[in-house]
Amino acid sequence: MNAAPDENFTLETLLAVRHWSDKLVSFRLSRPAGFRFIPGQFARLGLPQGTGKLWRAYSMVSAPWDDYLEFFSILVPDGQFTSRLKAMQAGDTLLLDNKANGFFTADRLPNAQQLWLLATGTGLAPYLSILQQPELWQRFEHIVLVHGVREAGDLAYQAEIAALRSHPLWAGHGHKLIYLPVVTRHAPAGMLDARIPALIDDGRLAAAAGLRPSPEHSRFMVCGNPQMVASTFAALVKQGYSLSRLKSPGQIVLENGW
Ligand SMILES: Cc1cc2nc3c(=O)[nH]c(=O)nc-3n(C[C@H](O)[C@H](O)[C@H](O)COP(=O)(O)OP(=O)(O)OC[C@H]3O[C@@H](n4cnc5c(N)ncnc54)[C@H](O)[C@@H]3O)c2cc1C
Ligand SMILES: NC(=O)c1ccc[n+]([C@@H]2O[C@H](COP(=O)([O-])OP(=O)(O)OC[C@H]3O[C@@H](n4cnc5c(N)ncnc54)[C@H](OP(=O)(O)O)[C@@H]3O)[C@@H](O)[C@H]2O)c1
Repeated sequence: MNAAPDENFTLETLLAVRHWSDKLVSFRLSRPAGFRFIPGQFARLGLPQGTGKLWRAYSMVSAPWDDYLEFFSILVPDGQFTSRLKAMQAGDTLLLDNKANGFFTADRLPNAQQLWLLATGTGLAPYLSILQQPELWQRFEHIVLVHGVREAGDLAYQAEIAALRSHPLWAGHGHKLIYLPVVTRHAPAGMLDARIPALIDDGRLAAAAGLRPSPEHSRFMVCGNPQMVASTFAALVKQGYSLSRLKSPGQIVLENGW
């Protein structure tokens, strides 16, 4: 829907809602024709609250060419925004800030052999959009998607991740994707079962991917629980990696999930 000329948001319609569990939901919103974003960026979604509005950041899950916007959200018990989101259904409306934001994009990393996409919880969201960039599949020989969650039931989007391997837009490159689910509580037999920083420290993550990471060959994106992001960064720095900056490209880019 159109915004009034003096407003910096639009009113958008919920097109579909998918509950993965009592604490995880995905939803699709109508997309204004002028809403542009780079995969990895986030939108600000709003709800009316009293005389004002309540805004929260959500990473785009969908591809830039999709005619809807998809998001993947936690449902925090008593969360100001998500306890209202939990009850919403197709046909309800949300506010969408006109501008996408953020710098958590794969173009901040120099080309290399390996791209490691490390997530906990809903930190998976930006990667689902990033993985739909055809050029990404050309730039790297191995793309490792690591999704760390508490319980196996939190491993959302497994079918969609598997389908990326046979997507026609990057035909011939889909085999590059290595998906490593990590479950820290009651892990099914054979699954990685420790926190991501520990798996980096002891080499289990590299072994599970069958790769030998090195500052020359590897790039890392890290998104999710802010304490996980900090500890993962520390684990990578210990192994000789550094933050990638505009003026001094390195191997790591970070995004706190809240
Ligand atoms: C750049 C950015 C991108 C974000 N992208 C997403 C996204 O794609 N999906 C998403 O669900 N949230 C995302 N968030 C968090 C989101 O903005 C909200 O904070 C969250 O949905 C909860 O809102 P709330 O008002 O219900 O609770 P809040 O009052 O905002 O949060 C209450 C508490 O819930 C916990 N919490 C908040 N967000 C999460 C989360 N995602 N996973 C686990 N625990 C959490 C924290 O302990 C927090 O202190 C993002 C935040 C930032 C800054
Ligand atoms: N999932 C539940 O059953 C449950 C229950 C009560 C409340 N909640 C609330 O729901 C919200 C979201 O839960 P969530 O499970 O999506 O997110 P989460 O608590 O961030 O856990 C997701 C994954 O990140 C790991 N992790 C947590 N802190 C870490 C750290 N400092 N370093 C490295 N890894 C870390 C967790 O491992 P660990 O398992 O080792 O922590 C888990 O594998 C939280 O606010 C939580 O308080 C969830």
